[in-house]
Amino acid sequence: MEERSQWGTRAGFILAAIGSAVGLGNIWRFPAEAYANGGGAFFIPYLFALLTAGIPILIMEFTMGHKYRGSAPLTYRRMHKKTEGIGWWAVLVAFVISTYYSVIIAWAISYSYFSLNLTWGDDTEGFLFGDYLQLAETEGQIGSLVPGVFFPLIVVWIVVLGVLIRGVKRGIEIANRIMIPTLVIVFLIIVMRAITLPGAITGLDAFFKPDFTEILSPTVWVAAYGQIFFSLSIAFAIMITYSSYLPKKSDITNNAFITGFSNSSFELLAGIGVFAVLGFMATSQGVAIDDVVAGGVGLAFVVFPAIINEFPAFGQFFGLLFFLSLVLAGFTSLISIVETYVAGLSEKFNISRTKAVLIGGGIAALISLIYSTNGGLYFLDTVDYFINQFGVAALGLVEVILIAWILRKIGVFKTHANEISDIRLGSWWTISLGVITPIVLGYMMIDLLRLNLTRGFDTETGNYEGYSNIFIMWSGWVVAIAALVIGIVLAIVKWKSNPEEGEYDER
Ligand code: PHE
Repeated sequence: MEERSQWGTRAGFILAAIGSAVGLGNIWRFPAEAYANGGGAFFIPYLFALLTAGIPILIMEFTMGHKYRGSAPLTYRRMHKKTEGIGWWAVLVAFVISTYYSVIIAWAISYSYFSLNLTWGDDTEGFLFGDYLQLAETEGQIGSLVPGVFFPLIVVWIVVLGVLIRGVKRGIEIANRIMIPTLVIVFLIIVMRAITLPGAITGLDAFFKPDFTEILSPTVWVAAYGQIFFSLSIAFAIMITYSSYLPKKSDITNNAFITGFSNSSFELLAGIGVFAVLGFMATSQGVAIDDVVAGGVGLAFVVFPAIINEFPAFGQFFGLLFFLSLVLAGFTSLISIVETYVAGLSEKFNISRTKAVLIGGGIAALISLIYSTNGGLYFLDTVDYFINQFGVAALGLVEVILIAWILRKIGVFKTHANEISDIRLGSWWTISLGVITPIVLGYMMIDLLRLNLTRGFDTETGNYEGYSNIFIMWSGWVVAIAALVIGIVLAIVKWKSNPEEGEYDER
């Protein structure tokens, strides 16, 4: 095994963890989720989820990585021989996410360029699906590669794999040290411009106006927990991998709080920016906020270009900054997602980092080409829906039940974290992980299965419901289940290095 890499500085680690957490989810998912689930009132379940699941699990994963000093599979194996498969399952979920997350960054690169002369014209929706993505008529058709997506996608992979080949300290850390401060500056400019637009206040009003009637509904709580999991990159192998490069003396608990609060602050900032411009758009068109609200692909690539068209001045510049922020936020997350399997492969098969990057990243890059074909968006939509649902609910649930109830590691982990951290963990942490999180995730899982199974395959996936059962089965269920099955297979494969070798805390 190669000598284990380490972060150069504490700030380097924190920036990388924040870089992983702050991603597309903050910019295009949070604002729409909050708005749809009670507006200002959403902050109550959201903060509750952050404090009872988000930060506790972050502390737990930081502790696991720091204690066992391995990628997710190695960490799970060192925790208990029979649990390696869960680590691989998490890594495979990350692998699948990386295959389409990269494609969205590629779109954002194209759109950064388009914003220079507002290439999208007046019909931004027609432009996205027709001119740019050249979307096939129906789902399941593949067609051929779309050059406008293919070329920026190649750039994305070259950058990410290039960063990863340079290693933890010289690659990941430096990339985040440059990209995260730049992202914050760019985003602050965006938000300042946004809130000074005419009509901005109408949007902010709609965003913050609390609707307390919603707060007792389980869907709102499920949405809050879902957002926290996705947004903090927990239960995806990522934070375990990153914290395995921490030096011995590291304040785990404090780092987790800093990461969690920074991520939420960025989320709030994004909510303000997005709703300010939505308010501007609604006002200038004389319509209600409800008519312009969107999330995901629709928000970034249809609504935003339309808003930029209407800008009083310097719309091009605003557009460039916005898409640039998507690119930066996306890159720092993608780097963390790919690192999970780079680390996993290099340890298990005893190969160099460079080889692991080229093999793992190479396969992911090849698979990502599917999403740059005419039928790409349909696949992306379905895979994203399924892998996230199962990533969030199933993996998180298995993780906390295993650690809190089966292996009963909470006490040992608490001692480990407390020995090196300023903030002492007490019963808040134990109860959150042992009781609250399992109950909420268990409920989410049952609800999810009920929803998906009782409706047969007639699931509404994302924005493009109405897909055929056979399509949903293959690109949804099969992909999600394959991640689990291949994970178990990889756990059975013999280690090419000695997993016991190396310095770690065995208790
Ligand atoms: N947390 C990041 C985001 O908000 C990236 C991410 C998404 C990581 C999904 C893992 C899974 O976009």
